[in-house]
Amino acid sequence: MVPFLYLLVPPFERTIAGGLVFAPISGVAALIAVPVCWLYNRIFSAPLFGMCGEEDEIHTRTRREPMPIEHALVNLMGRLEQDRSLDEPRHLRKRVEALDDLDACLPDGQPIGTALHRRARAIYDELESVNSRLYQAIRQDIQRGAGGGRLLEWMPDWNAAADFMNCRGYDYLDELISGVLRFEEPSTEVLPLESEMVSYQPTPARHIFDLIGRTALTERDFLVDLGSGLGHVTLMASICTSASCTGIELEPSYVDCARKSARSLKLNDVRFIQGDARAADLSDGTVFYLYTPFIGTILGEVLNSLRHEAVRREIRICTFGPCTRVVAEEQWLSVMGALEADRIAIFRSRYQTLGPGQVAK
Ligand SMILES: C[S@@+](CC[C@H](N)C(=O)[O-])C[C@H]1O[C@@H](n2cnc3c(N)ncnc32)[C@H](O)[C@@H]1O
Repeated sequence: MVPFLYLLVPPFERTIAGGLVFAPISGVAALIAVPVCWLYNRIFSAPLFGMCGEEDEIHTRTRREPMPIEHALVNLMGRLEQDRSLDEPRHLRKRVEALDDLDACLPDGQPIGTALHRRARAIYDELESVNSRLYQAIRQDIQRGAGGGRLLEWMPDWNAAADFMNCRGYDYLDELISGVLRFEEPSTEVLPLESEMVSYQPTPARHIFDLIGRTALTERDFLVDLGSGLGHVTLMASICTSASCTGIELEPSYVDCARKSARSLKLNDVRFIQGDARAADLSDGTVFYLYTPFIGTILGEVLNSLRHEAVRREIRICTFGPCTRVVAEEQWLSVMGALEADRIAIFRSRYQTLGPGQVAK
């Protein structure tokens, strides 16, 4: 009866009357509904009312209030789900870029909440598992002594991609190398370095490929990485060439990691020596690599030792980073090829080899 009478009232008055009747009720309902919805969302990460699917959820949200990061994620996922080439191992670069893009859109370190994020995480995991299978296959080839060819397949063409090569940062090749070499996390307690010593930073993988390609190491070569860190250069050169390879590193925990990686890859000929490059025996080396491990008087001292070695035999010195400028000023060395910014430099000693019985000064 009440609803019927209510309909007889003219629209304007009906609205007022309706408002008077329903306002207190809806006020109470709102007081209950708001916390209930909030609690439900916190627990289940889903809307309480409507129970829309993930697409509806995306569209409702984006229609109401565009959220650039979610737009970007929806577009990105659409693109990645279409692109079947991402499943092919050789498209590592594309996959690493896709993983970086997903990383930028996914909540950092927080539990994955919405259906959209869960879907993105599934794509992320799938891309990572394609990468893991690729790294594992290369590791197995290295373990049976056939890894060099597999790694060298990834050697980038320096001239064809100058824009990509001439930057200092790390890229998909570093993902490849760390996936293959699989270093254990070094202990966080590293020894403090002297003021002229440079703390650890690995040579970007594309520069290691460049070093390996340009030095053309043979079985007569003996490569020494002075300040070898975790051993990227030493290990890669050992896998990809027939040269003997040694790393000399001051920090014991890095040496430990490098040795473990070598053992797990069954690289029995590579050596890692813990010690100060100033006191190291350099008498076997034919090619020395320095990614600016030290500067100032320490660099001067080590260059002096190398100059003495160069009197006995021809040596090559490869440098990367700021130490190149200093090494380029050494009169007993001549640069091979052109000196290019942000690229490994290779120097050759100028001395004539001494005959038997002659003494180096
Ligand atoms: C810039 S990192 C280069 C790492 C490695 N060569 C690479 O390219 O991946 C320099 C390394 O030199 C080491 N180092 C610094 N002074 C040293 C010294 N006097 N003797 C041996 N290693 C040293 C540091 O501990 C650090 O690991």
